[in-house]
Amino acid sequence: MGSGDWQPQSTARLTLPPGIAAVWWLDLATVPAHRWAAWNTVLDAEEQARAARFVRDSDRQQYIAAHALLRGMLHRHGGLDARSWRFITGDHGKPSLHPDHRLDRLRFNISHAPNAVACGLVLDHPIGVDIEDRERPGGHLQLADAYFAPAEVAQLHAAPDAGKNTMFFLFWTLKEAYIKATGAGLSTPLDQFAFHAPTVRIHFEPSLADHDAAWQFHTLMPTTRHTLSIAIRHGGTGPLTILPRAANHQEVDRLTNTGDYDVNLKSRLQSGETGA
Ligand SMILES: CC(C)(COP(=O)(O)OP(=O)(O)OC[C@H]1O[C@@H](n2cnc3c(N)ncnc32)[C@H](O)[C@@H]1OP(=O)(O)O)[C@@H](O)C(=O)NCCC(=O)NCCS
Repeated sequence: MGSGDWQPQSTARLTLPPGIAAVWWLDLATVPAHRWAAWNTVLDAEEQARAARFVRDSDRQQYIAAHALLRGMLHRHGGLDARSWRFITGDHGKPSLHPDHRLDRLRFNISHAPNAVACGLVLDHPIGVDIEDRERPGGHLQLADAYFAPAEVAQLHAAPDAGKNTMFFLFWTLKEAYIKATGAGLSTPLDQFAFHAPTVRIHFEPSLADHDAAWQFHTLMPTTRHTLSIAIRHGGTGPLTILPRAANHQEVDRLTNTGDYDVNLKSRLQSGETGA
């Protein structure tokens, strides 16, 4: 997410009310193949270079979709054209809006997984989102044994076999959403805070100097195979209203102004093959 030779614009305006967190997800299985090239044009040069470096098409598509969705939501709630947004990166990699936008109240976080991406937007509060594919292969219990808090490991081992996978991804996405909301990422020891199910509560070890009363969490299953968790630090001011919903590709087209983009026509124009 580079800053390029961008100039501040005066048309930015916030339409997201305080106290509301907009969380959208996109099921990538519903996106027509020709949209990837169109959405790629909304990304800045640095994002496009990153997208081009992915070896697998599916990884590139996740990346493009997450960044196009973010830019579309920023257009919807921040006013500027989807292509205009510029970003900076924090110490542990968390992106935020470039200070030149003078929209430091507007916070966001994105997440990508096989076949789905998600983006959360809120005013004034740190937000983290994490979406995961519950069908991803791997030794989940061994991973939990190695990295999760003892209280989470105990809950997982006590769960019936049929419920273990769901509980694992509940804890995984909640833990990721928390470390993404703080921005500290994996520099936070994952065994120093524990979630409790089924009513989601968090418990912090003293080493983290954090308080459960400052946090709000929400988890949902946006598709038949994905779990999505959202963490927001309201700091004790009381819970916000989290509005999760599915986006569709037509909406991303509209918000990013790529709906009438014709890849073949553009390449013909660039190579001078047509006078159209
Ligand atoms: C980077 C990390 C914060 C999230 O990684 P992830 O779950 O693989 O990736 P997600 O798709 O959910 O999120 C990636 C996005 O989060 C954002 N991000 C990157 N670093 C971040 C940070 N420190 N805090 C918040 N957001 C961050 C970026 O926008 C990134 O997308 P981009 O690279 O396309 O711009 C980090 O926690 C990580 O590497 N996790 C690996 C997964 C793992 O081992 N989890 C242990 C089990 S809980």
